[in-house]
Amino acid sequence: IKVKTNQSIAKVQPNMWGVFFEDINFGADGGIYAELIKNRSFEFTKPLMGWTIQRKKQQEGEILVVNRKEVNTANPRYLQIKKQTDDFELINEGFKGIGVKKGLRYDFSLMYRQSAPGVKMVLMLKDANNKVIGQGTLTPNQTGSDWKKQSASFTATETDPKAKFSIMFQGRGNIDLDMISLFPGDTWKNRPQGLRADMVQLLADMKPGFIRFPGGCIVEGTDLANRYQWKKTIGPIEDRQLIINRWNTEFANRAAPDYFQSFGLGFFEYFQLAEDIGSDALPILNCGMACQFNSAEVASLDELDPYVQDALDLIEFANGDVTTKWGKVRADLGHPKPFNLKMMGVGNENWGPQYLERLAIFTKAIKAKYPDFKLINSSGTDPEGDRFNLLNTTLRSNNADFIDEHYYRSADWFLKNAGRYDNYPRNGSKVFVGEYAVHADNSIVGSNRNNWQSALASASLMTGLERNADVVQMASYAPLFANIDAWQWAPDMIWVDNLKSYGTPDYYVQKQFSTNKGTDVVAITLDEKNIIGQDGLYASAVTDQAKKELIIKIANNSNQSQQIDFDLEGKMKLKSKATNEEIANSNLTQVNSFENPEAVSPKKSTINLKGKKLNIALKPYSFNVIKIPFN
Ligand code: AHR
Repeated sequence: IKVKTNQSIAKVQPNMWGVFFEDINFGADGGIYAELIKNRSFEFTKPLMGWTIQRKKQQEGEILVVNRKEVNTANPRYLQIKKQTDDFELINEGFKGIGVKKGLRYDFSLMYRQSAPGVKMVLMLKDANNKVIGQGTLTPNQTGSDWKKQSASFTATETDPKAKFSIMFQGRGNIDLDMISLFPGDTWKNRPQGLRADMVQLLADMKPGFIRFPGGCIVEGTDLANRYQWKKTIGPIEDRQLIINRWNTEFANRAAPDYFQSFGLGFFEYFQLAEDIGSDALPILNCGMACQFNSAEVASLDELDPYVQDALDLIEFANGDVTTKWGKVRADLGHPKPFNLKMMGVGNENWGPQYLERLAIFTKAIKAKYPDFKLINSSGTDPEGDRFNLLNTTLRSNNADFIDEHYYRSADWFLKNAGRYDNYPRNGSKVFVGEYAVHADNSIVGSNRNNWQSALASASLMTGLERNADVVQMASYAPLFANIDAWQWAPDMIWVDNLKSYGTPDYYVQKQFSTNKGTDVVAITLDEKNIIGQDGLYASAVTDQAKKELIIKIANNSNQSQQIDFDLEGKMKLKSKATNEEIANSNLTQVNSFENPEAVSPKKSTINLKGKKLNIALKPYSFNVIKIPFN
């Protein structure tokens, strides 16, 4: 194999390898958003879903769910308690139970109003046998007709992945309650009511170039009323209007009737997360069309203004200075410095003349105000279908900045398509592979977990993306997170339960690409040809001019070990010691798991060069990242 080390054939964008975030599989609510109370403000379709009341005997009118939608559309319901005689408990089951860690602080808060003090609350974490494993108290002490907020913290005495939370009401009196909330004390950066640190850390470790958010199909919603509207996701959490999650009703066998979007993780938090982990923010906005796989509702052209305005205002929210209307909103939320947003997507997997018509209106308005702002256009999920090809051709002839391609296909398809971009036009629109994953059984929702075969095939295709970094300028695997007890879609890159999380083999492949992205693509060939499947090999190479490294990525899809001679041509002064970070497993069905989270993960070894020659044995079914430092 020859590597022409000196000749840069394309620049690698610093944000090339990113992540795709969607609140699917309990990715946000019940996942990275660390709130432990399900249905904290009683806004689920069934107002007491997730809650049970335990009392000796029923007292008429003691507990009521009141709806005040005429005066508060964003947060209509609250709980009215008229406590008379016996004490009773209000118990929350958590999302799929509540993960509790021994010794950790838990932060409880609620909103209430009362005309006189009277009711006292005992706060308890309990295990399945009702043993108390953490306890605190809160006595609401403020009075008046407006809502007050109060909090209390306590420490857990035991670890339990499936606890529940109980409030025992004592004393007598009338009190209204809302936004009953419990967070662990170890959130990411210790932000109050923040994100789950272990899940953010897995992302931070990948050093993703961008975060695409908030989806996915939830951008579109099942209908337009339930589309994602970013302006409703910022500011005080009690004012963020909850909606049904588009994945709530999907796939009857895995239906999640308790899946709603609280927007506790809203657009401000997404921007903050991107900034925290050094990624570009990449929001995708609704283009006036609901999911075409659901209601397919479309806003007429004369209804489109607010949609376009949302896009314009989002750019101002992210980038405007504090003298602008939306820049000031951002500053008031605690971030006077702009977020430096450079691009956004208009529509997700929308198609047909209606999409093109609406896209044109968005594009004209956005480019008129922000000529350098980049827009991502969608070409859908069927990379071989007529609809996809027609859309792709039209978007290209319209000079789209980026065309978003999605594919969920078999391992075999991934291998066959590793050369997909070699013959794409070099000028004009760039490609964003915005969603992709190997689905072993070729179905959209495979029951398979990501195994080594799927990750190795992804790695093989990704060498083709990297080789074509002048055309494919961004890529993100999808979906990102899945809760082991509440998933609608698989495979997924990272699996979590209430306390733990682990990366699949795909996680490690993605991480290897994004942490070794380099700056310049260089040619790597076998008999002067790109390496796309000869003897099961797939390869790409980059140099990192800042770190001074030549980085070769090579996947061996054969069941045989292969002895490879690399001929590293060029004037570059290579050092004599290189490293190989190898992910290998002779069993293609090997998966990672909570018990064995790193079964398939990189192992590092040192190798010696002989001048400009490097000889290495590639293990069967292996993906190798070989790094050779130079002066
Ligand atoms: O990644 C899961 C779903 O796949 C996304 O929501 C959608 O865009 C695609 O069809």
